Amino acid sequence: MSELNNIALKIIGDGKGILAADESTGTMSKRLENVNIVSSAESRLTFRETLFSSDSMKTCIGGVILYDETIKQTGSNGKKIPELISNASSVPGIKVDTGAKVLANSSDEKITEGLDGLRERLKEYYKLGARFTKWRAVYIISKDCPSKLSITSNAHALARYAALAQESGMVPIVEPEVLMDGNHTAEDCLKKTSEVIKKCYDELILNKIELKGTILKPNMILPGNKSKEKISSEEIAKLTLECLKESVPTEVPGIAFLSGGQTETEATENLNSINKHNNTNFIMTYSYGRALQQSALKFWSKNTKDIKGTQATFNHRAKMCSLATQGKWSQDIEKQDN
Ligand code: G3H
Repeated sequence: MSELNNIALKIIGDGKGILAADESTGTMSKRLENVNIVSSAESRLTFRETLFSSDSMKTCIGGVILYDETIKQTGSNGKKIPELISNASSVPGIKVDTGAKVLANSSDEKITEGLDGLRERLKEYYKLGARFTKWRAVYIISKDCPSKLSITSNAHALARYAALAQESGMVPIVEPEVLMDGNHTAEDCLKKTSEVIKKCYDELILNKIELKGTILKPNMILPGNKSKEKISSEEIAKLTLECLKESVPTEVPGIAFLSGGQTETEATENLNSINKHNNTNFIMTYSYGRALQQSALKFWSKNTKDIKGTQATFNHRAKMCSLATQGKWSQDIEKQDN
């Protein structure tokens, strides 16, 4: 078990965080098409390989979450993608859920699928080099949501997934994402996220998960994206810390936030404030998808031959996020480094 704890610390320790490059083919295609790039196995690989070969991999990216397609691909230098990542002393990881589907007897809510055959798939991913895994549950906030049904069903699935991941020798990232869509207040988000996370740990404990060998990937506590409420980054940090302090068992080594639709700068500034005020024993870091890749993707889409320029854009973002894990980021540094 200490081996799983070591892997978790290698991924999120020393000012490092996670690059979430595990967009499904459908999601990645939309992101590429939005910037006028034709989506193909080749274009998806080229962009991702460009990021995985950048200098900041060694200093800022402790782990990369891959999608099934990418973990099986070979890069332009003839190396398998997991090997490319390990060579940068980062840890290859894999998304193992098969997506969120409509939850029966609920109109809007979703349940994440992928437990059938998971043990076998995990064995295959381990052989391919993965040492950690991710499973994402999603919850919506509205008057009656998330419902008890959604909270219970998703927590159960997350715990069964985590047990199988640990059995296979891999660290499970447990991701209960309470979406920011809606006009709810930050206080609503705090209440509902706390309820969701507490239930996840009830189930994880029931399933005998060794918490030291896990990483939590939650949302930050924010007002809904259609809410008129505007709160400061300090306030976001205060509410987020309050939520995690009361809901997460102290054995958990660290928390790696998702960006969930925040801009790159918002996600960095909020993480920085969280770390400036961190009064917990948890490592607080990033597991960002959009907030690490957006600018790099935009740059690359206009300069597909400029690998160095794309990498410089990504390196800047990764460096800013890494500074935020130490509470050392500022708007001035953001501008100077750019
Ligand atoms: O599951 C969600 C992704 O791994 C994180 O993506 O930072 O763009 O929300 P995001």
